[in-house]
Amino acid sequence: MKKIKNVTCIGAGYVGGPSMSVFAENCPNINFTIVDKDEKKINAWNGDVDNLPIYEPGLKEIIKKTRNKNLFFSNDIDNAIINSDIIFIAVNTPTLKEGPGAGFGADLKYIISCAEHIAKIAKSDKIIVEKSTVPIKTAEKLNEIFSKNNSSVHFEILSNPEFLAEGTAIQDLRSPDRVLIGGNKSKSGQNAVSVLVEIYSKWITKEKIITTNLWSSELSKLASNAMLAQRISSINSLSAICDATGADIKEVSNAIGLDHRIGRYFLNPSVGFGGSCFQKDILNLVYLCRTYGLDEVAEYWYQVVKMNNYQRSRFSNKIIQKLGQDLTNKKITLFGWSFKKDTNDSRESASIFVAIELLSRGAKINVYDPQTSNEIIYNDIKEYSSNYSNIIDNIKYVNDPYKATEQSSCVGILTEWDEFKSLDWKEIKKTMVNEKFIIDGRYILKDKIEEKITYL
Ligand code: UDX
Ligand code: ADP
Repeated sequence: MKKIKNVTCIGAGYVGGPSMSVFAENCPNINFTIVDKDEKKINAWNGDVDNLPIYEPGLKEIIKKTRNKNLFFSNDIDNAIINSDIIFIAVNTPTLKEGPGAGFGADLKYIISCAEHIAKIAKSDKIIVEKSTVPIKTAEKLNEIFSKNNSSVHFEILSNPEFLAEGTAIQDLRSPDRVLIGGNKSKSGQNAVSVLVEIYSKWITKEKIITTNLWSSELSKLASNAMLAQRISSINSLSAICDATGADIKEVSNAIGLDHRIGRYFLNPSVGFGGSCFQKDILNLVYLCRTYGLDEVAEYWYQVVKMNNYQRSRFSNKIIQKLGQDLTNKKITLFGWSFKKDTNDSRESASIFVAIELLSRGAKINVYDPQTSNEIIYNDIKEYSSNYSNIIDNIKYVNDPYKATEQSSCVGILTEWDEFKSLDWKEIKKTMVNEKFIIDGRYILKDKIEEKITYL
């Protein structure tokens, strides 16, 4: 088997950064170079470890140990491609904004441009690994690009989807439930699979490394995310029934989860799932089903996204019911901007949609979150609201939870940061005005404090 010396990862984001760091930590004899077209991001990865482009517990410690030893961050994409035996593609695959499949299908333009670039630059055989979540049969498209643009080099494509969850990425990467590697059944396909299995087996037991054909691997990632998101929408749908009937969703969730066939994980009710994956991957699955004429199956999965949207509006509607349709000059504080605790990532976070709804009714919003900033908040509002210039002056980040709530009529909890549980809620109430309405969309204060709290 070929001895691997240099590995490149294109994309220094939430997937590429942490995953290559853990590879580097476990494979001291291989050099890992992470490249990105975003120069600012690469400079940040090479800068102060307390200001890395992404926040992830445990990440900065690995970076300190491996950076410039066998882990490198670079803008020199061409040299990295030329020198590497394996190239991981970990670029973003957002939902298509226009054209056929708009609003559902995955936009593969970044992956395609990587493939075209690799084909143009490569001078020796390469193993190309799809790390980004992609629609089934993407490998076929990549193959076409490689054979059309460079017939003198052999490109062997593998699918190795990443299952890490943000906030626990390092732990997930060090000790994953499974590693999935899909490859062609041909001799060169199976050789490439063995090369990747060998690298992972430096720190993961062989039983946890499963190999499949390319299409099963591509689909398994979409399917896993769809099943996880479906559980959240199911528990959130039950929270609406609890709210209407007087049952307690935390008690119901506990009772359901004790059945070993169901299990207790991923049954936390919330103001809806966020993050860059769940909604995007389900919409992608819906598009795939429609493409194959499976309309009933498409409708089934689409319901998971609709339920998620419903849960977000249920949260803002509760505030509107309490404070009135017209929120002009009402001050509201949102605790939590990131889509889950222990990350600075706010892509698709429920907070964005709740904030836009309240701002459109004239509310003034303060946001407190241990890992956000005005820059992140403004960018998020800009991306999702066509009314940006009229509402943006009414929202701001306040870097102190007690100051953030001053003069507020309502505090809404949208992210389950541990810090929120240990705040002095009696003190927070004192800073507020009028009816002092606290609504917990994450059920984290339940049984923790005696204050009167509203739940979803
Ligand atoms: C997810 C998958 O878990 C991961 O395997 C995949 O690689 C990428 O997508 P991520 O989106 O980073 O990971 O985080 P995850 O922990 O799955 O949470 C997603 C959203 O669901 C968050 O907003 C979270 O708060 C919410 N959630 C999760 C709930 O509302 N209830 C739960 O019980 C669990
Ligand atoms: P993910 O959560 O999937 O990791 P991110 O958006 O955090 O997504 O990261 C993807 C990274 O890929 C971004 O930093 C982006 O600049 C980078 N990227 C996208 N296309 C290319 C490309 N053609 N060449 C190099 N880097 C790219």
